[in-house]
Amino acid sequence: MSRKLLSTLAPPALALAALLCAPASAATLAEQVETCGACHGEDGNSRMPRLPSLAGQPNFYLMNQLILIREGVRKIPEMEALAKDLKDDDILALAAHYAAAPSKRSEETPDPALAARGAQVAASHHCASCHTPALTGQEQMPRLAGQRIDYMVEALKAMRDNRRTSADPLMVETVVGLSDQDLAALAHYAASK
Ligand code: HEC
Ligand code: HEC
Repeated sequence: MSRKLLSTLAPPALALAALLCAPASAATLAEQVETCGACHGEDGNSRMPRLPSLAGQPNFYLMNQLILIREGVRKIPEMEALAKDLKDDDILALAAHYAAAPSKRSEETPDPALAARGAQVAASHHCASCHTPALTGQEQMPRLAGQRIDYMVEALKAMRDNRRTSADPLMVETVVGLSDQDLAALAHYAASK
């Protein structure tokens, strides 16, 4: 709650507001991780179709996305109710937790022919210049290595078709004009790194 808003409240309401904001009422990191784990996997490696793994993502990427999700800039209906209550400190702790969690490949098997085609598209479109040669990500750029194939296919289509509201314009520019087949190839390649 902003200072301005607080100062307009009458004293009893102010006391109630202070009580509602009391840190003691917040869930612990372990409790929050358990909630996240229902969708993102208990160790941060997703076992559910089209749900992203969080393990091994750059700390800054996680922090940035969680703020965008909380503020509703990146719209994720499944996370709306949960994310709006996250405090800045919760976000910092969750980002640090998942950044330090070891990334594991999903149970999906990359198709070798698609992965080979994806390697060519990735080279000509300079994916490594931002996502790093090992595709492990850096700063605000996500890890692609080991990420779920079905999630990446959807994410790439959403960015190409301008449906990911918060997407980085340079990222979108990179995939504009690519076919569904090329996007699938990129996902199979990235997941196999
Ligand atoms: C009910 C299921 C659900 C729960 C619980 C959930 N999420 Fe998510 N989360 C999603 C979905 C679905 C997406 C991906 C949406 C999309 O396709 O872009 C997502 C995306 C994310 C992303 C972006 C990942 C990326 O690679 O861009 C982050 C970060 C994230 N969630 C963190 C969390 C954290 C931390 C928690 C616990 C506080 C949590 N989520 C709980 C469903 C969930
Ligand atoms: C100019 C830097 C840049 C280049 C080049 C680039 N990306 Fe990205 N990419 C990003 C950023 C930044 C994001 C985070 C998107 C956001 O802001 O929502 C991203 C997000 C993604 C995501 C979504 C991952 C997730 O967890 O949600 C995928 C998949 C992806 N990039 C694949 C690629 C591929 C494949 C290429 C090459 C064809 C590529 N990127 C080229 C910067 C880049």
